[in-house]
Amino acid sequence: MCAHRVSVTRRIPRAGVDLLHAQPDIEVREYDHDLPPSREEWFDLLNGADGVLSLLSEHYTGNVLDQFPNIKVLANFGVGYDNIDVAAATARGVAVCNTPGVLTAATAEIAWALLMAAARRVAEAVDFVKAGHWETWGPTSMLGQPVVGQTIGIVGYGRIGQCVAAMARGFDMKVLAWDRSPETKPQDGVEFVDFDTLLAESDFVSIHCPYTADTHHLINDAALAKMKSTAILVNTARGGVIDQDALISALGNGTIWAAGLDVTTPEPLAPDHPLVTMRNCVVLPHIGSATITARDAMSMLAARNLIAVLRGETPPHIVNPSVLDRTSL
Ligand code: GLV
Repeated sequence: MCAHRVSVTRRIPRAGVDLLHAQPDIEVREYDHDLPPSREEWFDLLNGADGVLSLLSEHYTGNVLDQFPNIKVLANFGVGYDNIDVAAATARGVAVCNTPGVLTAATAEIAWALLMAAARRVAEAVDFVKAGHWETWGPTSMLGQPVVGQTIGIVGYGRIGQCVAAMARGFDMKVLAWDRSPETKPQDGVEFVDFDTLLAESDFVSIHCPYTADTHHLINDAALAKMKSTAILVNTARGGVIDQDALISALGNGTIWAAGLDVTTPEPLAPDHPLVTMRNCVVLPHIGSATITARDAMSMLAARNLIAVLRGETPPHIVNPSVLDRTSL
């Protein structure tokens, strides 16, 4: 007889799902589709589950958890876990796990892809060629901002922020950083500054902080007004860190020069959303961790987190370790 029932709420790379299937004490239910389950389908997957390999697109509130008291672990497929009310999960003895580390380089690469694309107008130039507007080599056309030797400001100096900073050295950039956590220490030539100084002195501002009540709309009208008019804003963290109405105005009236966004509110954005249609904004469909290697590793790590908690062992990555003492399986 199976001791544990787990649900995987979306099609994910097979590595972790196969690992789950290979466990004799685990019975796996899979929602094997690329689009998220409907609410009814999601609740059906949660019904009777001891553990869930959960996705960022599902919102686990206290109210949801109360309806499925069997759930002992939410193993989120991702490093961010703002889709889970961690306090509510902790109060109910539900372990919350995530997948940091394995997607650091992949996400930093996308921050750089956005930075370069926005600075050098890459998406706009591709559209220009496809639309048949390319008539000549134009000395004054598609002029962008330089990257080499400029100043980058890293907002949130965790794993991904540090990786973006390390890559900036290859572009001979000055690196400024700001982090809410007093424990975070700068490394190798990175200068920690206050938030306003970072905004005022950076040519590129790249967001890498978690999305919390404290960082909601951290980049608002006031913050944008402090940035250089030539500055480029990059966000690979969560859409809610930016007040999008403020960003639309800032991009429209020249308060800042351009933006590159891998994350938005909501996701997806409609094709006619101003941020999608604006010439000086590059929007990607939340592909920060989307390399084959990173997604395979996330799948394995999420499965290992799930298996460990269900067996009463310490998982590789847990957000609320205090529940481990209290979880009786
Ligand atoms: C993706 O956004 C993640 O949090 O891993």
